Amino acid sequence: MRIIEEIGEMQQQADAWRREGKAIGFAPTMGYLHDGHLALVKAARSRADIVVVSIFVNPTQFSPGEDLERYPRDTGRDLRLLREAGADAVFLPTTAEIYPDGYQTHVEVSRVTTSLCGMSRPGHFRGVATVVTKLFNIVKPHTAVFGEKDFQQLVTIRRMVRDLNMDVEIVGHPIVREADGLAMSSRNVYLTEAQRLTALRLQKSLAAAQALVDTGERRAEVVLKRVKEVLEEGDDLLIDYAQIRHPETLEETVLIEAPALCALAAFVGKTRLIDNRILNVPHKP
Ligand code: PAJ
Repeated sequence: MRIIEEIGEMQQQADAWRREGKAIGFAPTMGYLHDGHLALVKAARSRADIVVVSIFVNPTQFSPGEDLERYPRDTGRDLRLLREAGADAVFLPTTAEIYPDGYQTHVEVSRVTTSLCGMSRPGHFRGVATVVTKLFNIVKPHTAVFGEKDFQQLVTIRRMVRDLNMDVEIVGHPIVREADGLAMSSRNVYLTEAQRLTALRLQKSLAAAQALVDTGERRAEVVLKRVKEVLEEGDDLLIDYAQIRHPETLEETVLIEAPALCALAAFVGKTRLIDNRILNVPHKP
């Protein structure tokens, strides 16, 4: 497995693979890898000849006061896991390599980034869209895999790739969960044992939403009321948002008549967690 720290070297390697006719699959990450990330690596592997993973904690997608400084890092362990997973190369740049002095160009995707996490994390998706554009120009992938855990991020990247005619196929991967249902996240290490139990409310509230839709409820407002009730049964939990939206446009849904995205963000203690689920409407018998 090649470990590449410089942009020029990564681009040359990508060019060489492309000249050999190899398809490049790519999974961008911020490291501190878990099975959710490794599932993306596997998905990339099944679609390409070469798999590249990037590890870069991107400062421009963190708002002031967020956890940039204490974001968990363990590069040694990440590299071991990626070697085991069969990655061909890891792109591991420094912040100065990605954002040298004088840097001043950003990518802004407008409508789909205004709601949900875009409301509570101003500038977040601008940072994501910018770094993903740069990573695409550096790694030159044919295919890139993103998790549905960050559903709005996936929608934003799809929109950006379409709008800017980027020649990269975007693949979404289902959320990978712990045995008890908690969506895997690098940030789960922040949780105490008690908070870890409270965090299960997110997934439980999404299951309650689907159960209500299964019984025939179609009003998003009613479903969301139930979601909030289940969330608020947890100690030390503060809802950031709970919303039902169209899975592609992210426009608000009033009546659930087609598959709809139910998306949540909540603070458990100081840790901000997100989760989501597509609510499916049962077929009429
Ligand atoms: P990070 O949070 O490290 O996540 C990297 C990728 O792993 C993202 O596509 C994310 O959706 C996916 N992922 C995380 N947890 C997952 C889970 N439980 N199941 C499935 N996929 C999961 O997302 C980022 O980094 C950054 O914003 C990045 C795209 C790298 C840009 O900086």
